[in-house]
Amino acid sequence: MPAKIELKNVGKYYGSEQSSYVLEEVDLSVKEGEFLCIIGPSGCGKSTLLRILAGIFPQSCGEYEISRSGKKETPLNAMVFQEYAIFPWRTVLDNVIFGPEMRRVPGRERLDRGMEYLGKVGLKAYADSYPYQLSGGMKQRVAIARALANEPEVLLMDEPFGALDAQTRTVMQEVLLNIWNHERKTVVYVTHSIEEAVILGDRVVLLTAAPGRIKKIYRVNLPRPREMTMRKSPEFVSVCQSMWDDLVKEVKKSGLGGLVPDGR
Ligand SMILES: Nc1ncnc2c1ncn2[C@@H]1O[C@H](COP(=O)(O)OP(=O)(O)OP(=O)(O)O)[C@@H](O)[C@H]1O
Ligand SMILES: [Mg+2]
Repeated sequence: MPAKIELKNVGKYYGSEQSSYVLEEVDLSVKEGEFLCIIGPSGCGKSTLLRILAGIFPQSCGEYEISRSGKKETPLNAMVFQEYAIFPWRTVLDNVIFGPEMRRVPGRERLDRGMEYLGKVGLKAYADSYPYQLSGGMKQRVAIARALANEPEVLLMDEPFGALDAQTRTVMQEVLLNIWNHERKTVVYVTHSIEEAVILGDRVVLLTAAPGRIKKIYRVNLPRPREMTMRKSPEFVSVCQSMWDDLVKEVKKSGLGGLVPDGR
């Protein structure tokens, strides 16, 4: 499989103070169609890394490339945030077709695509509703449908289910896995939850306490398609355990030793 995203020695500091790097020496290659998860202590630079990949701001050093395999007019990436970043004044369907509308995809085609993606996230019946009429989980489903309907090369997700209750979160993981199973889109997914990273990811990158560097990369050998029942399998439990041991060391270094990350 060719590399879809290639990062070489990527680092970042904010402001003008070079001595205060928040992210350092990130070398990483993400394969086409890979589901890559990133975990690490709070403040270690996970969101910073995603924002660099999203082109929201530039890295301070190093370089990265996202290779293009689709049409030139489709975007390189789409981002799904933890906060419900959908437009409150647009209906659910109008939110989902926002990207294609901006790209001037013809009306019929973009409506069809919008309904197709609403179907994938189980929200066809809510096409004409407004965001305020939806639950948190439903809003995040709209955000996922909106991101995918714009046909990005890469999907970037920053704790997309972090604000949801545990039960809704599990349902959302299933929804996402189902869609990913069909689309096999390259995904970079940041989470605080080890269990979420392991049930979703092909590989999980653990970042060190700030400044974030890659501490370890784990391969998850659970078969696909993934089922939530795999959480009970010995493979799942043992990968989670070793990640947990490594993560705790980093959390302690980050000065948050008294705080235990969720997901366990
Ligand atoms: N726009 C900004 N300007 C200045 N400093 C920033 C900015 N964004 C983030 N930082 C700093 O960079 C560091 C890394 O932040 P980042 O948000 O990437 O961490 P994170 O790993 O996503 O944390 P969390 O798990 O809490 O979301 C932190 O020290 C943060 O204060
Ligand atoms: Mg963050």
